[in-house]
Amino acid sequence: MGTTTSLTHIILPLLILTFSLSVSARPATFLQDFRITWSDSHIKQIEGGRAIQLILDQSSGCGFASKSQYLFGRVSMKIKLIPGDSAGTVTAFYMNSDTDNVRDELDFEFLGNRTGQPYTVQTNVYAHGKGDREQRINLWFDPAADFHTYSILWNHHHVVFSIDDVPIRVYKNNEARGIPFPKFQPMGVYSTLWEADDWATRGGLEKIDWSKAPFYAYYKDFDIEGCAMPGPASCATNPRNWWEGTAYQQLNVLQARRYRWVRLNHMVYDYCTDKSRYPVTPPECMAGI
Ligand SMILES: *[C@@H]1O[C@H](CO)[C@@H](O)[C@H](O)[C@H]1NC(C)=O
Repeated sequence: MGTTTSLTHIILPLLILTFSLSVSARPATFLQDFRITWSDSHIKQIEGGRAIQLILDQSSGCGFASKSQYLFGRVSMKIKLIPGDSAGTVTAFYMNSDTDNVRDELDFEFLGNRTGQPYTVQTNVYAHGKGDREQRINLWFDPAADFHTYSILWNHHHVVFSIDDVPIRVYKNNEARGIPFPKFQPMGVYSTLWEADDWATRGGLEKIDWSKAPFYAYYKDFDIEGCAMPGPASCATNPRNWWEGTAYQQLNVLQARRYRWVRLNHMVYDYCTDKSRYPVTPPECMAGI
């Protein structure tokens, strides 16, 4: 935990690019980095603490959070979502400053669906207290059949949400144009599994089928590399942190191509183009991606 500036990261940026997962992966158990925040009885450690099972039933959902907060870094984990009929359930993985008024938050939300209907992945970005920046994609695989890696990279240049190394969303630092960017507050890492059948699936039309409960989601390979706070403030501004390096300041050619592919083929909602909600296009949407 804390700063991670290994020689490998400085000397072999190209290798990192190709093998970023294997290079940064380090064995971490759930309890080293996280604590349970909601319903102990609905989170089970499995595989010696290297993986966990989240349970949702009629009595409760559950949640966990990182013990530390971080100011810039990258967090990733492998998640296997509820299979079969998951309509009305929401599994979330997000970062949050935990501040009431001027909230910063970076969200992944997995909206369940009826058997055979696709999950929807919703992302949102809150900066300096303002959110309402939802985007939605459908996935190019079944997220309940296997584990897939979901990650959030957050540095001074941008926030990148990725799935299996495919960028699905980029929120650029456009402070120079007066657009807020989360930069001043550390954020914790959170996850929850809960019932949200008033809005999640087909806008709330599809309800949870409790006869299918309990519902199970699985998490493993927890990996957080960032500046843990409270800690030396200088960490967050150190340009030698690997996640601040040139390879991470903008998408490379391959990532940019994948990102375009997702937006063209898998995006189902974008607040930027929702004229009924935003007659005037929000400035960050105009500023280019
Ligand atoms: C669920 O499936 C329906 C039908 O294919 C689709 O319209 C919807 O976007 C899917 N996702 C959610 C979260 O409702």
